[in-house]
Amino acid sequence: MFNNRVKVKDLLQSEQTGHEVTVMGWVRTFRNNQFVALNDGSTNNNLQVVIELGMLDEATLKRITTGASLKVTGHVVASLGKGQKVEIKASAVEILGDSDAEKYPLQPKKHSLEFLREKAHLRFRTNTFGSVFRVRHALAFAIHKFFNEKGFIYLHTPIITSSDAEGAGEMFRVTTLPHDNPPRKEDGTINYEEDFFGKSTNLTVSGQLEGELGAMAFSEIYTFGPTFRAENSNTTRHLAEFWMVEPEMAFCDIEDNMNLAEEFMQYLIRYAMDNNRDDIEFLDQRLAEEEKQKPQNERQEFGLIEKLEFVLNNKFERITYTEAINILLESPAYKKKKFKYEVKWGIDLQSEHERYLVEKHFKKPVIVTGYPKDIKSFYMRLNDDGKTVAAMDILAPGIGEIVGGSQREERLEKLEERMREMHIPADEMSWYLDTRRFGTVPHAGFGLGFERMVQFVTGMGNIRDVIPFARTPKNCEF
Ligand code: 4AD
Ligand code: MG
Repeated sequence: MFNNRVKVKDLLQSEQTGHEVTVMGWVRTFRNNQFVALNDGSTNNNLQVVIELGMLDEATLKRITTGASLKVTGHVVASLGKGQKVEIKASAVEILGDSDAEKYPLQPKKHSLEFLREKAHLRFRTNTFGSVFRVRHALAFAIHKFFNEKGFIYLHTPIITSSDAEGAGEMFRVTTLPHDNPPRKEDGTINYEEDFFGKSTNLTVSGQLEGELGAMAFSEIYTFGPTFRAENSNTTRHLAEFWMVEPEMAFCDIEDNMNLAEEFMQYLIRYAMDNNRDDIEFLDQRLAEEEKQKPQNERQEFGLIEKLEFVLNNKFERITYTEAINILLESPAYKKKKFKYEVKWGIDLQSEHERYLVEKHFKKPVIVTGYPKDIKSFYMRLNDDGKTVAAMDILAPGIGEIVGGSQREERLEKLEERMREMHIPADEMSWYLDTRRFGTVPHAGFGLGFERMVQFVTGMGNIRDVIPFARTPKNCEF
């Protein structure tokens, strides 16, 4: 029987002593054949287990090594050690699983994040990744809490689809046809009619289009699930498999959409700050140490907690794309030719431009609206100027784009015209256009990249370190 076990976190939080408990976990360190630092993943704070000298024989003591798993029963006593109020005086120690100290990859010392990425199956047992993944969990929970409190319906949109929601063509194909010799049509092209679904299918890049169908009945929905993009981007911000939160609201315009996105981001940050204080404080320290290794001019201005508090206490800046371009054109960085990519009206903002706006110019999150229609998706609502669309991107310090959204084109003729211009086959999208044919309403929504949000809240610089098992170009381990 295992469920009479007490969690380390709960034990350390209560100041009660004198009673007997059973704890289980993994050995972090073992000192002087007496003091075990035991961790069960509920917190970074280890429980000190004291084994009286002479209690265990030599052979058993030798098996208490870093990484080994233990079941310990004993009395809770006040601790004399610093940083903990209580510890356990062991009366019985059972070794559940040995861990060969010579072979165990995690030594009780600091390992680099790069090294731990190669050992992703074990890195959950380190303080950094313990904190990161507890915060990730808290944020995921807070997402459901936020939308549930607002009466949104959680809609599960499909993973396998036959549409390209973003029209960007960066999809992973899903097929059961033999890859070495697929059936072909007379003109030599692959005959997907013989494929599993009778047509060409792929992993979804976004749940939005199906989400819109839900919003046209429930008024407000959200999806939260994995999305896939075969973009060959080897950056600290891109994954081939990432999680996206996508709310979609009927009776809603771009203004309402921005307000919701801002409230949502602040809610998530506050939830983690209130419920994972220990982890955030640990990550704040970790980041401060990492920053110290950098040359002065590359260091971030704010510490992690400072940054999060600042974002909670200040409104996001709101500017139009045209204003953003003008700021860039007038910037010292532009005049000193510091930007690698060209700046002029019509360009897609590059990450160097986004980072200049949020980190150098405004020093806070910025919502940019009114992008040129030619660089955005077909479903975004055309503004009266005929050149721009009611898009909104939220740019965050240290991250760049964290949210992408828009008011949707609810006018059937305008939408059909955009689809023709962008060569999107209307006959295959008839189900989508039906929402505009039958009771169309102004509606809007956005997508928050979940891992980028976890990066923002944890201060981790590389997106590979905030998802348990990262999928990136040429990398699909575990
Ligand atoms: O801006 P995107 O492409 O927008 C959409 O997919 C819309 N359908 C959302 C909507 O309106 N419902 O992606 C949304 C967000 C980005 O802002 C970014 O945070 C994240 O998803 N994202 C990625 N995160 C990690 N790796 C990638 N390769 C990402 N691509 C986008
Ligand atoms: Mg985008």
